[in-house]
Amino acid sequence: MNLLKKYLSPLSGDGGKTSVSVLSPATVANVVCGFDILGFALNGPNDELTISLSDEPGITIINQDDFNLPTDPEKNVSGAALLAMLEECPDVKGFTLISKKHIKPGSGIGSSAASAAGPVVAANHLLGNRFSKEDLVRFAMFGEKVASGVKHADNIAPAIYGGVTLIRSIFPLDIIAIDAPPLYVTVVHPQIEVKTSDARQILKQKVLLKDAIKQWGNIAGLVAGLIQHDYDLIGRSLEDVIIEPVRSILIPGFNDVKTKCKEVGALGGGISGSGPSIFMLSKDEATAKAVENEMKTIYERIGLDYQTHLTTINQEGVRIV
Ligand code: HSE
Repeated sequence: MNLLKKYLSPLSGDGGKTSVSVLSPATVANVVCGFDILGFALNGPNDELTISLSDEPGITIINQDDFNLPTDPEKNVSGAALLAMLEECPDVKGFTLISKKHIKPGSGIGSSAASAAGPVVAANHLLGNRFSKEDLVRFAMFGEKVASGVKHADNIAPAIYGGVTLIRSIFPLDIIAIDAPPLYVTVVHPQIEVKTSDARQILKQKVLLKDAIKQWGNIAGLVAGLIQHDYDLIGRSLEDVIIEPVRSILIPGFNDVKTKCKEVGALGGGISGSGPSIFMLSKDEATAKAVENEMKTIYERIGLDYQTHLTTINQEGVRIV
């Protein structure tokens, strides 16, 4: 055992383990009306990540997928998150990360957040859980900044906390876990890529007061509906008058998906994160399957490749495996 590992072993959270593997989940940010402040984690797809202590200073990244992501830690989402963590670990020289992504970058279901959240949760476990979940969100936001140009936590917080989370503030961090009722989530990913940075750039910087009032009503209604397990209120509140009208133009079939899926019983839904994925919420699995069929029919007709996911809300967040 080298000196560093010998020094670190008493800190190890899991019987002196030298590496930790995690499944880091996809997430849905915004949840229609809660731009940058609401998100939930999904029970799949997940990225597979393994972290170990390294004698090399800094972060070494080994990609085991076909996405050609940068391995320079400062330009890599996982790397930036781990560097932020390393700054607060004077006793650690470096980490090696093996990353096998299954969540496509640019899909709108929190690919960058999975890359940022998973490694810091894994590294924290390796170091005996010395940091709080809030600290881990703080580190992971450095990764999100690499991806989208700004720090936002509406994918990262649910990836780390699990469930539905409300980010009341990021400076200082104020994260509230919401006890939502059981929900089925159907996601369709039309196979085009929308970069979060581009999807943010097209947004208007000013909103009309009447639109803001409508949006506040919907966010408050959605949060109340989730807490009270009131499915009808959740459905009524899934409306976005500010972001969706601008971004939906980038997504072929968007209006059709929304209309047809609601016709077959979905509570509602909209753009997942910055798109192009679209998510719909349903009360039961049969409805979620009918929603998936509608999505498939629409993209078959349009002639655009797509992928669907039928899943539920992940209550645990990043999972040690
Ligand atoms: N809230 C972010 C956005 C999520 O919509 O730009 C995307 O990562």
